[in-house]
Amino acid sequence: MRKKIVAGNWKMNLDKSSSEHLVKEILESTQEKKDIQIVLSPPFIYLEQVVKDCVSRPDVLIAAQNCSAYDNGAFTGEVSTNMLKSIGVDYVIIGHSERRQFFSESNDVLMNKISLSLSNNLKVIFCCGEDINQREKDLHFEIIEDQLKSTVFKLSANDFSKIVIAYEPIWAIGTGKTATSDQAQEMHGFIRSLITNNYNKDISDNTTILYGGSCKPSNAKAIFSEDDIDGGLIGGASLKSADFTSIISSI
Ligand code: PGA
Repeated sequence: MRKKIVAGNWKMNLDKSSSEHLVKEILESTQEKKDIQIVLSPPFIYLEQVVKDCVSRPDVLIAAQNCSAYDNGAFTGEVSTNMLKSIGVDYVIIGHSERRQFFSESNDVLMNKISLSLSNNLKVIFCCGEDINQREKDLHFEIIEDQLKSTVFKLSANDFSKIVIAYEPIWAIGTGKTATSDQAQEMHGFIRSLITNNYNKDISDNTTILYGGSCKPSNAKAIFSEDDIDGGLIGGASLKSADFTSIISSI
């Protein structure tokens, strides 16, 4: 059966002491549950410390927010998948709309990052999502299909089974506008049917598909209760331990 995951993407927020404090509070106010995975995704600079802080909690895994599209060598400022693996990171978030938009990451760049992550035994949280114009023109299904076909659907079945998909409508990220649970379920069901067509039902049934975009304590329960929604990728609300742990307990 597929895993339920609640992942906190801190983005470029928090200083060192607030990051340590947040981790401490999250660990204190949650208990290990077999079927739920908590994922914390701090900025690179705090990753190693957060890995160490969570070592006694096998249900809490750590994600990098990005990785280099290159293996190693003369790439000033970059962090390789091999380095991430060597400090105990478990996941890499790839394809987030902020990286596509502000750092011009193309499908080819995303594919390089995915391949390098998988070859270094890192799992991938792969984000997809349409913008408001595409949604208003009723192009959202087409856009998501295209984003998946140009990237993760090129993987072998074995490699695809290491991918978690996060559906994040761009118009809902950081805006306070959440997709309704019907809108989210409709897209998650569509993504699952695409996985069945591209691979098979077994792989589709076992793929975790997260929702992201203004998910908060007040709407998490309704969103997570939908059949094809297996948890969330949480931005703003993952920076406050009370909000994040309340979202975790909604699953
Ligand atoms: P948000 O961000 O929860 O602040 O909308 C979600 C994300 O970007 O992953």
